Amino acid sequence: LVNLLDLASRRISTRKFSSEEIRIEDVIYAIEVARQAPSGANRQPWRFIIVYDNELKMEIRKYCEEVEKIFHEKAPTWMKKWLSEKGITWRKEFLTTAPLLILVFGKRNEPYWVQSVWLAIGYMLLALEEKGLASLTYTPPRVDWANRLLNVPTEYILQTIIPIGISKEENKKKIRFELKDILYCNKWNNPCKNLQILEGNEI
Ligand SMILES: Cc1cc2nc3c(=O)[nH]c(=O)nc-3n(C[C@H](O)[C@H](O)[C@H](O)COP(=O)(O)O)c2cc1C
Repeated sequence: LVNLLDLASRRISTRKFSSEEIRIEDVIYAIEVARQAPSGANRQPWRFIIVYDNELKMEIRKYCEEVEKIFHEKAPTWMKKWLSEKGITWRKEFLTTAPLLILVFGKRNEPYWVQSVWLAIGYMLLALEEKGLASLTYTPPRVDWANRLLNVPTEYILQTIIPIGISKEENKKKIRFELKDILYCNKWNNPCKNLQILEGNEI
């Protein structure tokens, strides 16, 4: 039986993908899981476009790198330093190396549309992990180009591009805050007892 804590603990963001093909059924499965998410007033403001056409992936990458270049140029000095320390550049190879992208759009003006769409995205990430697929929630700094490129009506706004594939990542799981540092009982700063009940599941 899949254990959600194991899936969530194992999952990491992947930015390096192998050229290996993936099963589209597994991707549809993840979107089927996302479809079950709750949403503000059950308006289900999410829409998904799967892109596996290589030329279209190249165009998407071109637009993203254009807006990334501007973003990197205009970034304040402290952010430039942070970006270079992290090795983050305007280049987004993963948009063409991953065999498939999911573009997730949200329908603006629906109640809690952003929260709802991201909740569905969270569901999807775990489902992809269950299928052994690596992913990333990439958020380009500008998204209006996507409507024009993919014929998307203007009331829908691109929330993220999720490259999906087989990981070539050497990264390890990034550290998370400890439970005691993020969880209080009854009042702020009041520690919870019995946090050790989760110990058996720790990675
Ligand atoms: C809302 C959101 C936006 C993100 N945007 C980007 C992004 O534009 N580029 C990127 O490389 N990673 C992006 N990430 C991935 C985070 O950097 C990553 O989840 C975080 O560093 C924790 O690492 P992990 O996912 O490997 O556990 C985003 C994550 C979230 C949740």
